[in-house]
Amino acid sequence: MFVEGFRCVNCGELFPLNPEFFVCPKCGVKRVYGVTVFKGITEVAYDYATIGSVVGRDLFSKRVFNALRYRELLGFEADVNLITLCEGGTPLVRGGRIAEHLKIKHLLLKNEAQNPTGSFKDRESLMAVNMALKFGFKGVSCVSSGNAASSLAAYAARAGLDCYVFMPSKASKGKVLQCLVYGAKTSLVDGIYEEIFEAHLEAIKGLNVLNATPGYNRFRVEGDKTIAYEICEQLDWRVPDWVIDNVGNGTHLYGMWKGFKELYQLGFINKLPKMIATGPVSGAPIVHCFKSGLISPLKSCGESIAEGLIGVWGYDAPLAIKALRESNGYAEYVSDDDILEAMKMLAKFEGIFAEPSAVASIAAIPKLLESGIIDRKDEVVCLVTGSGLKDPEGGSRIAGNPLHIQLNVESIRGALQSK
Ligand SMILES: Cc1ncc(COP(=O)(O)O)c(C=O)c1O
Ligand SMILES: [Zn+2]
Repeated sequence: MFVEGFRCVNCGELFPLNPEFFVCPKCGVKRVYGVTVFKGITEVAYDYATIGSVVGRDLFSKRVFNALRYRELLGFEADVNLITLCEGGTPLVRGGRIAEHLKIKHLLLKNEAQNPTGSFKDRESLMAVNMALKFGFKGVSCVSSGNAASSLAAYAARAGLDCYVFMPSKASKGKVLQCLVYGAKTSLVDGIYEEIFEAHLEAIKGLNVLNATPGYNRFRVEGDKTIAYEICEQLDWRVPDWVIDNVGNGTHLYGMWKGFKELYQLGFINKLPKMIATGPVSGAPIVHCFKSGLISPLKSCGESIAEGLIGVWGYDAPLAIKALRESNGYAEYVSDDDILEAMKMLAKFEGIFAEPSAVASIAAIPKLLESGIIDRKDEVVCLVTGSGLKDPEGGSRIAGNPLHIQLNVESIRGALQSK
């Protein structure tokens, strides 16, 4: 076993690998504007010297290309059968036509929409559900803007675990439908993510149900590391200059950073990328923290079509900010109009239909070029985090209308000649 336990990122104390220690009991929490700020967030700590003696680039490359290819770096015992939907192994494709349009040289798109339930959250559910089984929980539960819930529901179904999901009432219809179809006990709540998060944190105490909520469940970060591993492998162990990501809680931005650092420590790569966080101007606490230098929730937030990003707090903000600072990275706001423009470009230039929360990364490029943060010659990877099919209302904002035509040769010929 390569895992040492949970280590507090704040005080460095090591605790047993047990969900009891998702939060460091020594550092505790503080409350700001009614939101819990975890002062001591823990993360899974590994014995990298032993891992390094067992795994190598060539071992990974012999295995099927999905997240479990890296199982030694995920904290699972070697001989355990795991619940999987073959998550990960998503394409890293050139965004050639967008790059031409934006006048940049090297743009790559990591298409996480191609995961089993249509978002990167499947990499996190792999961890949450298998750890729930390992620790003997009867069920799993989460608060979610929609993607974490729909993903958890699928993995819980496959594992035979009870699943409870809680989403803001305005969550996209496609995501709510996924939860229901997979058989999760699905609740819609009138409130924002953070309000539901706080109430759920109390409500779940003492129940035999694992709190798998993003920003709380520490196993999620481990699954997200696999995005970084894959990007490096797909570039033949070269590292891009920039990784631009869509950020809510900041969990997967930090997970990727942890993944890149591990590969560096193991000697698989010889440099690190710079990380960029993007979020909606109406409420992106991590972008705000980066720009203001304060690690604190916002008093309030507005509305945005990017339902997975908008909020007053990112529960993993301290980690995400650490990633941005350590990597010499940056953070930038985008407007809903920027997001719609990016959705259009991605669909019409590259054939990828993504939801609004999935494209803030691409939406930020013009601003990042203008301010000179990224250079037109840099190699940039943008995360595309979720499928457009989950949010038909978002998609309809950029779609035209179909032609309604008569059933005859002339009408069909007319349609064929239309511009
Ligand atoms: C499509 C999409 N992208 C990005 C995010 C933000 O991810 P994180 O909370 O890890 O920052 C979410 C969160 O729900 C999401 O659904
Ligand atoms: Zn601590």
